[in-house]
Amino acid sequence: MLNKKIEAALGDQINYELFSAYLYFGMAAAMEDLSYRGIAHWMRTQANEELFHAAKLFDYVYSRDGRVKLPAVGQVASEYKTPLEVFEIAYKHEQSVTARFNKWYELCLAEKDHVTGSFIQWFINEQIEEEDNIKTIVDRLKRIVDNPDALYKLDNELATRMLAAYVNLINTSAPGA
Ligand SMILES: [Fe+2]
Ligand SMILES: [Fe+2]
Repeated sequence: MLNKKIEAALGDQINYELFSAYLYFGMAAAMEDLSYRGIAHWMRTQANEELFHAAKLFDYVYSRDGRVKLPAVGQVASEYKTPLEVFEIAYKHEQSVTARFNKWYELCLAEKDHVTGSFIQWFINEQIEEEDNIKTIVDRLKRIVDNPDALYKLDNELATRMLAAYVNLINTSAPGA
């Protein structure tokens, strides 16, 4: 049975993951409008990752006999001027997500809920990659900001992103794996 404080924290995080998905859908829409189809695809994939995170938290709450409330998801923008603006906002957003998971982990320690603490650690580790991937793209965009050819190449490269769960499935079902 989940303690009420932990249950509320996980519920709050489910809402924030859904908000994250919504944020990335808005960014995908803006990039479609500006004809950056690769970046739009990257953002759509990111939105799917966030929906997966929400589902993972949701399933965990019910596996511990908790309950989930689903308040409204916050409003997001669907207009941005440049890919750099989008990725800079995404980077700040992921840093805010990391800060939240650190806070939830501390709550788990304070409440002596080590099972949930260990569950939360998966998300903390996941955030290393989330921040790193986005920061790398921010740095590349800063370098090529006045170079349309390089921007076009990066857009094509980002069009190849696959959902992490799908990549894992391919890797584990490959011959000899
Ligand atoms: Fe997430
Ligand atoms: Fe994220």
